Amino acid sequence: MLVTSRVVRTLALLVVSPSAHAHGLTADIDWSRFAYTQYVTNTAYLCNSVMLFETLHRLGSRADRFMMYPAEFPTNGNSVEAKLLRKARDEYGVKLMPIEVQSRKTADSTWAQSYTKLLAFNQTQYDRVLSLDSDSTILQTMDELFLLPPCPVAIPRAYWLNPNDRVMSSQVMLVQPSAVEFRRIEQSIAAAGSKEYDMEIVNALYRDNALILPHRPYNLLTGEFRSTNHTAYLGSLIDPWNPAETLKEAKFVHFSDWPVPKPWIRASKTVIAENQPKCEMDPQTGRSDDCRARDVWRGLYEDFARRRQGVCGMTVTTN
Ligand SMILES: *[C@@H]1O[C@H](CO)[C@@H](O)[C@H](O)[C@H]1NC(C)=O
Ligand SMILES: *[C@@H]1O[C@H](CO)[C@@H](O)[C@H](O)[C@H]1NC(C)=O
Repeated sequence: MLVTSRVVRTLALLVVSPSAHAHGLTADIDWSRFAYTQYVTNTAYLCNSVMLFETLHRLGSRADRFMMYPAEFPTNGNSVEAKLLRKARDEYGVKLMPIEVQSRKTADSTWAQSYTKLLAFNQTQYDRVLSLDSDSTILQTMDELFLLPPCPVAIPRAYWLNPNDRVMSSQVMLVQPSAVEFRRIEQSIAAAGSKEYDMEIVNALYRDNALILPHRPYNLLTGEFRSTNHTAYLGSLIDPWNPAETLKEAKFVHFSDWPVPKPWIRASKTVIAENQPKCEMDPQTGRSDDCRARDVWRGLYEDFARRRQGVCGMTVTTN
């Protein structure tokens, strides 16, 4: 019995991470040393984060779930925020940490809202945390990332920017929390110029010693489905662009479709009509009736709206 369950566990582990075996990590892994982490600054983003945790829970992710939220949000009572915080904690096993969210407007503030993300570096109760921007959808768990070789930061590139700049995208960031690293972060924030946000700071500090995660499958933009040039995403001219395959491969997709608003805000019919992916010419029919990219793209927005209703009881807002 004991042997069987150990074998089953080992096999399950090998499925999660083919590299785990090579690294001799097939012994029991203490998943409570790892966490997916979210930081929340307002009610809309609270819902987004709870939606991500619902997905991780539903998909059976094994790492902890950790959420930093504004200390002024109550956890008791019947406010939307209180109900969502309790739901996260009680239904999805999320560990909650109240924090101070401050904005640059406050004279003596160091923690502008976007810097709040960098508090991930201070969560030394964990060996590793995976910080994910919440205006996104998780399509598959990413537990295997916690088993990567040690490194201060593992992060994908912003593949949609000029490749010569080799910019890293802080939308997805695997961090080894550390008091020393957090001190460096705090110093960088204190010295930051008015146009330097979390992404600039992470790039400046870790450009030369980050482990680069492949953007396929860890960092896809919804805007990719509107693009007419997929070379940067595919990274290869041999690989043909296939919207359905791209969606199937991706583990994390970030909503980024300017001027289309974020998915919790209702876009006007005109904005959608003008900006949704165009149907492409199908050589078989000779007509522009290959609408796979448009359908995948619309599907991501519809799925978001459905889960927002289901998880948060909130509709897509109009403003
Ligand atoms: C960082 O973590 C330490 C130890 O847990 C805590 O005392 C400190 O307040 C944290 N800093 C911030 C800015 O949250
Ligand atoms: C597509 O993008 C790549 C770089 O991402 C660029 O080198 C190439 O020239 C572009 N192709 C067209 C047709 O614009």
